[in-house]
Amino acid sequence: MQAAPHWPLPFWIAHRGAGKLAPENTLAAFRLGAQHGYRAFECDVKLSSEGIPFLLHDATLERTSNGQGVAGDLPWGELARLDAGSWHSRAYAGEPLPTLEALARFVLANRYGFNIEIKPTPGQALLTGKVVGREVLRLWGGSGFAPLFSSFEPEALQGAKEAAPEILRGLLLDSLREGWLNEAQALGCAAVITNYRLMDEATVGSIHAAGMKALVYTVNDAEAAQALIARGVDGIITDAVDRFSPAQEPHQ
Ligand code: G3P
Ligand code: MG
Repeated sequence: MQAAPHWPLPFWIAHRGAGKLAPENTLAAFRLGAQHGYRAFECDVKLSSEGIPFLLHDATLERTSNGQGVAGDLPWGELARLDAGSWHSRAYAGEPLPTLEALARFVLANRYGFNIEIKPTPGQALLTGKVVGREVLRLWGGSGFAPLFSSFEPEALQGAKEAAPEILRGLLLDSLREGWLNEAQALGCAAVITNYRLMDEATVGSIHAAGMKALVYTVNDAEAAQALIARGVDGIITDAVDRFSPAQEPHQ
């Protein structure tokens, strides 16, 4: 029998690299998060028009780059020329959008934990899950490390499960919709990751009773973090990398 895959994340996870301190989902942001002591990172991944996985939160380019329109409609050659830093501040002018491969180099060289949120362009959930699954096997295979997949879209997790069943998955929830726990179990998830406002003691208990980890996003307030730690959550995704020290794992 194969041993269960090792849980790949420490307690504290830096959201989109370094929260709002650097342009989200750029290599510069992950470097800054690491400078603040973070050893695990969340990012958002989608596909270029020819299927190259790269980092971007929104479906469209306007908010976080000087590009326009639906990012997934453009080939990587055009996306690679965009400025994804100037919108944030002049210090980051010219910062490019990174491929998942570029992040993998950084994460693997430093042995960081990595949570890949599969954030498909609308209508591409299953395909994105499959392609990102294959890419992760190619990039992380044989390294002895692995990221955690997560998604709000069950179809994306299904695609990842088909392509890379051995890579752990987490279902993201911004509401506790009917049947959410069964849904996570049917997808073979190792974790449920909710909006932190949803994670009360009973919810933590149900997730743990089902043999899964209970994680929360995006916690930036110290009181909220303390309450969640007291409820027994297994991980916190935060923007506040300059305020929360990741040096101590709360449950050790
Ligand atoms: O993965 C947790 C969190 O990133 C989910 O929400 O919108 O920030 O991607 P969002
Ligand atoms: Mg995200």
